[in-house]
Amino acid sequence: MRHSWDIGLKASDVTPESVWKSRRRFLGGATLAPLALAAPALAQADDDAPTGALLPAPRDAKWSTDETVNSWHDITTYNNFYEFGTGKSDPSQYAGKMSLSPWSVQIDGAVRKPMTLDIADLRKLAPLEERVYRLRCVEAWSMVIPWTGYSLSHLLSHVEPTEDAKYVVFTTVVQPKAMPGVQEGILDWPYVEGLRMDEAMHPLTLLTFGLYGHELPAQDGAPMRVVIPWKYGFKSGKSLVRIHLQKEQPVTSWMRAAPQEYGFYANVNPAVPHPRWSQATERRIGSGFFAARIPTRPFNGYEKYVAALYKGMDLRRNF
Ligand code: MTE
Repeated sequence: MRHSWDIGLKASDVTPESVWKSRRRFLGGATLAPLALAAPALAQADDDAPTGALLPAPRDAKWSTDETVNSWHDITTYNNFYEFGTGKSDPSQYAGKMSLSPWSVQIDGAVRKPMTLDIADLRKLAPLEERVYRLRCVEAWSMVIPWTGYSLSHLLSHVEPTEDAKYVVFTTVVQPKAMPGVQEGILDWPYVEGLRMDEAMHPLTLLTFGLYGHELPAQDGAPMRVVIPWKYGFKSGKSLVRIHLQKEQPVTSWMRAAPQEYGFYANVNPAVPHPRWSQATERRIGSGFFAARIPTRPFNGYEKYVAALYKGMDLRRNF
C-alpha cells in the first residue's frame, strides 16, 4: 500500500491539489448536474480522487483553515477506528463490511422532543457546509481534512434541550460480525464519547456527513460522526447511533480504559504530555518522513474561538 511518508514525497506531491482546486471551482457555482458529470472524469485523472456518492456543499471560510489539505488517500487509509482493529490500515481494510443502510439515530434524554431520525432526514436538517479542519490525534500526528456537515447546535436546538441537559453523550455503532476489533475486546463497546453542553453547542462542533465533497467512507465514520477540532481526535466519535443529553458527566470509553491517560476534556494542549506521547509537536501525515515536526498549538490552533469555554479551569487537572 502506498504511503507518501514511506517514499519521502512532500504533501504537495501527493495532495491532489489540482483536483481539489478544480472541484472548488465547481462547488463555487454549484448545481448538482455538472458536479455529477465532473466526478467520473476527475476520478479517472487521479487514482487518489474521492469515491462514493457526491455531497456538495459550499465552503465555510470563517471556520476553515487554508493549510494544504491531506490527500483522500491519507485520510481514508490512515485511520483510528478500533472496532475494526488497532492497525492504521485495519479500518480501510474491514470497514466496507459494515452495514450502513437503513441507518437511524436516536436523540433523547433531557430534551422536550426526543426523536429517532433517519440519516436522510438528519442530512437535511440544516444547510451543509464544507469545513477544512485540522485533526490532531493524541498519538501526535495530524491531518488537514475537508469535512462536510453542519454545526451540531442545529440538531440539539431542534430537540429542545431541558434545563437538565448539561452533557451530551455520543454512542457509536456496534456490528460484531463486521468488526473484528469488537470481537477482540480492545475497548468496552460501544465506543462512547461526550461533551459538555456548551462545547457541543459551539459552532465549531460539526455533525459530519461527508469528506472531500462526497459521503463519508465507512472507515471515516459513515454515515454520520461528530468532529470537534480543538480536542484530540478520540473525542470525535464515528458512526453515531445515539445522541443522549443528560445531567451527569458521562464516563467515556477511554476514561474507563485508562483514566490516568485520557481525561474527559481532552483539549489539545502542548503543555500537558500524555504518558506515552509528548504533545509538544506533531507529525503532519503526508509531509514526508524527514519533514520537520510541527509545534502543536493550544486547542489545536482554535484557542481564540474556544478558550473562553474553560475560563477559570485548571487545564492540567482537567486534561
Ligand atoms: N470512533 C469510533 N467509533 N471508534 C474509534 O476507535 N477513534 C477516534 C475517533 N473516533 C475512534 C472513533 C480516534 S482515536 C481518532 S484520532 C479519530 O476518530 C480518527 O478519525 P479519522 O480516522 O477519520 O482520521
